[in-house]
Amino acid sequence: MGPSDRMLLIELTERLKELSEAVAGLREAQDGLGRRLDAIEADAKADRKAAKQTARTAYAQVEDLLALYRLTGPGGPLPRMRGWAAGPELTRYLAEAVAARGGARVLECGSGTTTVVLALVARSIGSGQVTALEHDPDYAAQTRAELEARGLAGWGRVVDAPLTDVDLGGETWRWYDPELVPRNEIDVLLVDGPPGATGPQARYPALPLLAERLAKDALVVLDDADRPDERAIAARWHDAHPDFTAEHLGHERGTLILRRSVS
Ligand SMILES: C[S@@+](CC[C@H](N)C(=O)[O-])C[C@H]1O[C@@H](n2cnc3c(N)ncnc32)[C@H](O)[C@@H]1O
Repeated sequence: MGPSDRMLLIELTERLKELSEAVAGLREAQDGLGRRLDAIEADAKADRKAAKQTARTAYAQVEDLLALYRLTGPGGPLPRMRGWAAGPELTRYLAEAVAARGGARVLECGSGTTTVVLALVARSIGSGQVTALEHDPDYAAQTRAELEARGLAGWGRVVDAPLTDVDLGGETWRWYDPELVPRNEIDVLLVDGPPGATGPQARYPALPLLAERLAKDALVVLDDADRPDERAIAARWHDAHPDFTAEHLGHERGTLILRRSVS
């Protein structure tokens, strides 16, 4: 092999090396693109699943609303649900629970749509009474006006109950003034207030303070049960009140149901 052949060989070897480096680079880019494509496909699949779930929830909520209009009888359009208020699935659950009991003494922590709906159910079946504790005077007035506008004053009422310091097990909570909570027995307790912004685990005191007042077959309902604060409340209730069994309902924001265990 002459010197020019050797030069050519070196040149070719160099080119080959560059070429194999370029091929390796392309393979890496191809792998990267493959991974991106997989991620895009996984995202699209998750989006399709979420869209299907949203459509299913929306359809179920329309069914719940139709059932609610049947259960509440005449009384004009129902007040807004979802957002700050309970969703149609929880509201229907409550309305059916009250109707199945042939009327119930309902106590609500927090007033609003459910107060009106459950008062409509009480009127429709001719039995029962809804009392809502409300810490905010403006919302109390609003719910009261809604009840009055539908002629429901005899079936539902709102108690102005400012938040006050309540001591429980060495801890202080901001909760409705216990002096203002009506003394009667409770068949259905809806825990949907005070709002979370009033303090951590704001709804915790409801069960320890009212357990004694609950009828033997009472139903306790906690809205927004999927939120971290409400999960923590449920865990504390479970520890402090082992005589209740809990059930989780897969409503849009999660609902926790408690009943006294049958012994
Ligand atoms: C989580 S909401 C739910 C009350 C009721 N259980 C319901 O589902 O309609 C609880 C609190 O929201 C506040 N609230 C009542 N009416 C409201 C309204 N129209 N807009 C925003 N907040 C309201 C009140 O302070 C009430 O105690």
